[in-house]
Amino acid sequence: MDRTQGDDGAFVPAGSDGPAGGDGYVPPYPYRHPEQPSVIKLIGLARKSFLSVWPEMAFSRPLLRIAVLKKQIFICNSPDTVQEAFVRKHEIYQRKSAQMRHALEPLIGDGLFISDKETWRVRRRIVAPIIHASKVPDFFPAMAEAVLERREAWRRLGADAPVDVLREMAHLTAEIICRTIFGRQLGRDYAGEVVESFTAYQRHIDQIDVQSLLGLPDWFPRFRGRAIRRSVRRIDRVLDEIITSYEARKRDGETSVIGGLLEARDEDGTPLTREAIRNEASVIFMAGHETTANTLAWAWFLLSQAPRARARLHAELDTVLAGRPPEFGDIARLPYTRAVIEETLRLYPPVPILAREALADDRIGGWEVPKGSLVLVAPWLLHRNPTLWERADHFEPERFLGGARGGQSKFGYVPFAIGPRICAGLSFGMTESILSLAILAQAFDPQLQEGADIQPVCRLTLRPGDALPMRLRAR
Ligand code: HEM
Repeated sequence: MDRTQGDDGAFVPAGSDGPAGGDGYVPPYPYRHPEQPSVIKLIGLARKSFLSVWPEMAFSRPLLRIAVLKKQIFICNSPDTVQEAFVRKHEIYQRKSAQMRHALEPLIGDGLFISDKETWRVRRRIVAPIIHASKVPDFFPAMAEAVLERREAWRRLGADAPVDVLREMAHLTAEIICRTIFGRQLGRDYAGEVVESFTAYQRHIDQIDVQSLLGLPDWFPRFRGRAIRRSVRRIDRVLDEIITSYEARKRDGETSVIGGLLEARDEDGTPLTREAIRNEASVIFMAGHETTANTLAWAWFLLSQAPRARARLHAELDTVLAGRPPEFGDIARLPYTRAVIEETLRLYPPVPILAREALADDRIGGWEVPKGSLVLVAPWLLHRNPTLWERADHFEPERFLGGARGGQSKFGYVPFAIGPRICAGLSFGMTESILSLAILAQAFDPQLQEGADIQPVCRLTLRPGDALPMRLRAR
């Protein structure tokens, strides 16, 4: 394969060796080290992007072990070891990593995403039904409305308008999640303020919590910048204002997450406190907005490089929808559009590493795992494992047609995690992604701007760098 290597090792594969009939397109991925880099080098690379640390062999070994400073890190890297840790031994591996908890605790407190044991169990029972697959038809009109508005806004920009598609998708999914959390009207009114306040928070948190890597216990005081405290106060203020206006308004029967949280009762019949409602609303905003935005941005990038996949997508949309906006029932009738999203989630899983802390001494795959070890499942590695996937680095949506999951076990394809902590918004996120791609691709065929060099970067989520400059070519 013809490749060029960039400064920090980024490869841009030339992509001309695909199977007959496919686009043969191999999208960019970071340099794979021939040998395991030293610990010092690893930490430096990880601070830039978690994707740059992996040696070639990491993609095919079933279980990996690394010692970084005082921490033992185990990576469950085969369908069997993933099932063992995340499903069969959920009780031992349910706790999120110290890094994740410390990064998000100032904002979401005891929220579902970072809680465990009894708190998690109670919250999961309350929150999961509110965003469950059975509720997605109720949220669908608000989703479709936001996407149709974005399509109109794109039309107003005129022919071949230059846009940052990553930013466009972030705004779109923020609109959707705000309208579904807070109801259509409040969501519209407050989307801008909510996005700004969360973005400010995210700017201040760093994924690498060196104190946790050094093995300092949870109670050891961590440096919390004034900026973090200020942005948390701002988010709390906005959420309180929205919840108060929501309660004051006459209920109009619209389904919303806040409505669900206000009505929810725990097993003793006690309602959630105002703080718990704020925490869970923040969880859903954070978990559901950037993940879907990145998925859509990557899908546009991949399609722009793969003319055959694009033509097949357009043919499906034109045949099934014949120019009208999709209704909820149409989502199941768009298998190729779904396959494009599934293949995008395989190649660029928005959460490329799932990290847990062992709550007890254990053994996985014959190795001793001491209590407190970091145990990872890395969709980034599993999804590109050459022993699990044919042409693992190629973009080939066809592999997901016919419900085949690329021939994979469900433990080898985990963009939404797996086991009891599986993404509570899976159906919501899939429907939102398929719907957004369908409505926008009915009218537009975005093209990458000339000279744009797109490389995957991973901070909290896996994104196509800081921007995705494209031109909005009308179809
Ligand atoms: C393509 C879009 C999405 C992807 C790829 C995705 C992926 C994930 C992953 C990997 C996790 C588990 C993280 C871990 O174990 O460390 C997760 C958890 C979660 N997600 Fe999603 N997600 C998406 C969309 C959404 C949406 C739209 C919502 C809400 C409407 C949502 C709500 C949640 C919640 C509440 C959790 C926490 C579950 C728990 O800990 O019990 N997600 N998501």
